Amino acid sequence: MSASPENRPAVRRIGILTGGGDAPGLNAVIRAVVKAAASHGIKTIGLEDSFDGLIEPDRCRVLAPRDVTGILRIGGTILGTTNRGNPFAYPIETTGGTRDYSDRCVEMFHELKLDALVVIGGDGTLSIAHQFSRRGIPIVGVPKTIDNDIPETTNTFGFDTAVSFATDAIDRLHTTAEAHHRVMVVEVMGRYAGWIALYAGVAGGADVILIPEIPFDLAKVAERIMQRDTYGARFSIVVVAEGATPVGGKVSVVKEASGAVVERLGGMAGIVATQLEELTSKETRFVVLGHLQRGGAPTSFDRILATRFGARAVELLLERQFGTMVAFHPPDIVAVPLERIVGKTKSVPRDFDVIRAARALGISLGD
Ligand code: F6P
Repeated sequence: MSASPENRPAVRRIGILTGGGDAPGLNAVIRAVVKAAASHGIKTIGLEDSFDGLIEPDRCRVLAPRDVTGILRIGGTILGTTNRGNPFAYPIETTGGTRDYSDRCVEMFHELKLDALVVIGGDGTLSIAHQFSRRGIPIVGVPKTIDNDIPETTNTFGFDTAVSFATDAIDRLHTTAEAHHRVMVVEVMGRYAGWIALYAGVAGGADVILIPEIPFDLAKVAERIMQRDTYGARFSIVVVAEGATPVGGKVSVVKEASGAVVERLGGMAGIVATQLEELTSKETRFVVLGHLQRGGAPTSFDRILATRFGARAVELLLERQFGTMVAFHPPDIVAVPLERIVGKTKSVPRDFDVIRAARALGISLGD
């Protein structure tokens, strides 16, 4: 018989894992959790490569405060990660099928004598966390993604770092575009939401920003680019989110989805550049920022957010607020039930003030 919430044993030993694509700030969360947990006499066990650390033996290690010293400023994750490791549908290459390893994870959780788990991840990983939470594993989630598209939190860590990098790239492209009177198209990440494109585009002074939420018409974009000639601006910067689509068209897929692995997007900048060159007769080049946006040291904003998330996650463990996710509701870090975010995406609202500001400044959104 499972213990009722009131007489469950105190949290003394926790597991921590990172899942999905990496985002700058993951190490800052791990550090915060380990240090805050240690302050409360809680031992932390690091699980490697997402839930794989709960499937295979010897894929875990004790994390003491000295093990996380110096990782605050480092990108990536010291625990490793994967976006192929859903224990509820685990791909087995030899059979070509998938198998449910969730029982094994629950077993390992108890074998490792864990009292709770801190799961740091994006929508996919947090959905898995929610499933385990429904199976009785005490879990606190920490939202992560450079895309900033997890609902119920104003920001995820990694987003600010990605935007800063993309803004710097746009600044660099500006000078060469202006020198050669060219159109430069820059593709940024953002599968289903255009937060990175919108923020980096506005911060970098782009002329056109194409996001998944607003299907684009390149004839209108070309018109805007040609208009710029009338006041002597013979170059243009176009920022396109990888998930942006033309009106009535589809996303550009590099690799189709297979089993639990989602489709890989990319290539829209090349398509946009080719068509804009035809429509404007202006020399047009493109660049794809790709994974550069996920690398490097987190910005101070992301370090602070990640640290607050980690420290608050430990508070939630102590308060026994399981099945929740820490979230940024400025100025506070709050707890929201995991079920409120599962299967949902936080899109850029069409009437968002940054969209309105962009339009007011004459930036084309392709519509
Ligand atoms: O969700 C974060 C993200 O960086 C997306 O913007 C991008 O489409 C995806 O991950 C890329 O994932 P992977 O590294 O697996 O190709």
